[in-house]
Amino acid sequence: MPDLDLTGEHVLVTGGAGFIGRSVVAGLAAAGAKVSIVDLLPSTASGGESIVGDLCDPAVRDAAVTPDLTGIVHLAAFTSVLGSLRDPAAVHRVNVEATAGLLELARLRGVPRFVLASTNAVTGDVGDTPIHEELPIRPLTPYGATKAAGEMLLSGYAGGYGMTTCALRLTNVYGPGMAHKDSLIPRLMRAVRDDGVIQVYGTGEQRRDLVHVSDVVAGLMVAWRSAHVGPLIIGTGRSVSVLDIIDAVAKATGTPIRTEHVPAKPGEMPAVVVRTDRAAALGYSPAMSLEDGLVTVWDEFR
Ligand SMILES: NC(=O)c1ccc[n+]([C@@H]2O[C@H](COP(=O)([O-])OP(=O)(O)OC[C@H]3O[C@@H](n4cnc5c(N)ncnc54)[C@H](O)[C@@H]3O)[C@@H](O)[C@H]2O)c1
Repeated sequence: MPDLDLTGEHVLVTGGAGFIGRSVVAGLAAAGAKVSIVDLLPSTASGGESIVGDLCDPAVRDAAVTPDLTGIVHLAAFTSVLGSLRDPAAVHRVNVEATAGLLELARLRGVPRFVLASTNAVTGDVGDTPIHEELPIRPLTPYGATKAAGEMLLSGYAGGYGMTTCALRLTNVYGPGMAHKDSLIPRLMRAVRDDGVIQVYGTGEQRRDLVHVSDVVAGLMVAWRSAHVGPLIIGTGRSVSVLDIIDAVAKATGTPIRTEHVPAKPGEMPAVVVRTDRAAALGYSPAMSLEDGLVTVWDEFR
């Protein structure tokens, strides 16, 4: 972000070839940081070092966490909620064991900052109650549980070793670079492009907070500048129903969307309504409207 000068910083972005990772890498580099990447997939970003490998492999972590790093942004993860219900052991290996291994190397090698991409799903189902950072943690899926476990590890390393560890609890992120994903927005974009039918789980009245990836990068910068320790919710603070999202995509693409209602999936939260006051107090202010943000996604699909 323009007002944050990261000249002299060397940041490792795990998952830097992924959807959010690509924007984070670009944002950090634009702020002057040297950025290295580790991912299962090769990265197209130019600049710092790029390691292709599995973070479950200790040798890959060993190569990635160099002592000259000033921070790690840990985005690499098993990200599928439904997939985590099918294979909870796999999600544990990636989201907990690899995270613990990275944190420990950071401690041993004197890397002072560690930012984890977490989720509001750590809070579980609180109905329409707005989610904030002080609510108890009660995840409903293995995915949510592993992110909660990651947050607890970060807390222990902040308390025990004085590391600046922060968990960004992201709402539903959308934006350019998500064509490989299977979440609602890319499914809608594909339905429009291919003249397909979109499956709506349950009534479609469930509410979601959609945050544009550019605002996630802004949230990361706010956390970095303030050296925030602990969880920080990054969303828009405005939730819309799935049916409203379908309407918004139809407007952004200029195409009506055909829908088919199917039974709701287990573990799906009926509402995600968040409060972003803690991030706002640190200077976070999401700037992208849903209408403008959807156009940035459609540009890649059309
Ligand atoms: N997209 C969202 O709406 C959202 C919401 C909340 C939290 N998050 C979190 O944000 C982070 C990034 O998500 P994303 O949407 O960009 O997902 P993504 O799948 O596009 O990116 C994840 C990247 O991590 C890499 N990766 C996965 N396992 C790895 C491993 N074992 N070793 C090395 N690399 C590995 C993948 O190759 C991929 O490039 C994840 O931690 C996710 O849980 C995302």
